Amino acid sequence: MTYLLKNLNVYYDRGFRAADILLSDGIVAAMGSGLFVGGGAAVFDFHGAAALPGLIDPHVHLREPGFEYKETVRSGTLAAARGGYTAVCAMPNLKPVPDTLEHLNVELHIIARDAAVAVAPYGSITKGEAGAELSDMAAMAPYAAGFSDDGRGVQSEALMRRAMETAKSLGKPIVAHAEDESLLRKGWAVHDGAYARAHGLAGNAPESEWRQVERDLELVRETGCAYHVCHVSTKETVGLVRLAKFEGLDVTCETAPHYLTLTDGDLSDDGRFRMNPPIRSAEDRDALIEGLCDGTVDMIATDHAPHSAAEKSGGLEGSLNGIVGLECAFPVLYTRLVRGRITSLERLVELMSAAPARRFGLPGGAIEPGKPANIGIFDLEHEFKIDSSKFLSLGRATPFDGWSVYGRCLMTVADGKIAWRDTDEQ
Ligand code: DOR
Repeated sequence: MTYLLKNLNVYYDRGFRAADILLSDGIVAAMGSGLFVGGGAAVFDFHGAAALPGLIDPHVHLREPGFEYKETVRSGTLAAARGGYTAVCAMPNLKPVPDTLEHLNVELHIIARDAAVAVAPYGSITKGEAGAELSDMAAMAPYAAGFSDDGRGVQSEALMRRAMETAKSLGKPIVAHAEDESLLRKGWAVHDGAYARAHGLAGNAPESEWRQVERDLELVRETGCAYHVCHVSTKETVGLVRLAKFEGLDVTCETAPHYLTLTDGDLSDDGRFRMNPPIRSAEDRDALIEGLCDGTVDMIATDHAPHSAAEKSGGLEGSLNGIVGLECAFPVLYTRLVRGRITSLERLVELMSAAPARRFGLPGGAIEPGKPANIGIFDLEHEFKIDSSKFLSLGRATPFDGWSVYGRCLMTVADGKIAWRDTDEQ
């Protein structure tokens, strides 16, 4: 199949240029102005929209196998495609947990059958994510983006050391949900958001995150393991990662759109504001933005974590942790960070595509002639409202519902195939 994508502003070689893109059998066959093809090709005119390398999310929960009422590989990857993503890394808090090759194969089979974009699964660090015994990391390594117990921190230092030694020998990163369970409750005292203070509500204490990162960095120093910190939310973690990089450790980290654009002053008693780690103070948000600008924060993940409407209906206190993110991350970040003059579109592409591609060895991260096409096409000029009722994800809980934003995804080409096309009238 041949597609001609006309009148684009293409991100190529770290800059933008007006060009058409010709796709032939899934490959970027040509890029240039005034391209022409004969009959048989499908031609799309994008009137100057931006063509970016397909976005890559290193942290999503697709919920299948085990929790299909929340999300499936099909619904989650269609949501990803609608958001401009061409690859995602899937977290292992599933049933069965991918802790052996046999269990991972259950997930791989569904991915091969149903995924609309590339999915790289994580294997779990510990059996059943129970924190007691190492998973069969060696058997899973060839098929896993890395190893994570996301949803829980690994409490045992000795076990984390062994996990890092094993991951290092397998050439895979440890992807850490850092949370020291002995420090969780302190959050009730330290959370300082106006709403949370007034109602005695708060998420996990900042120290539960950064103390475990501090512990892990010591283990990275010992083992030389590649280490990636999930959903960084505190200023202290940003400081620790900055120093670790300065020291030359093989450390990367991600934060998420909600930690960059909201503070605990924005909370209301609604499950769509509840996730773990929680939205923190303005100081934490500012430190994350500083980290994003100086290179400490490597990438932005959504931590897309769908739950059913009932599970999110209990307000801040009674809802499960987790919000969806794939279908609004780019517009929120483009609007607030790029149009808000905090960073450049080029840097946003690095954070949302090139950096995760490099770190996790995923397809994409650039639009290159001769290579498989992984492209997200975005209208950067017209404002629209985020409407979670239209999401393809089965999850609807997002703090960004109703926001007016720019950056609607018009088309996503994943591995040369059109995975999403916006046919709505503007
Ligand atoms: O908010 C969250 N939801 N944080 C996590 O760590 C896990 C995730 C989930 O699986 O729902």
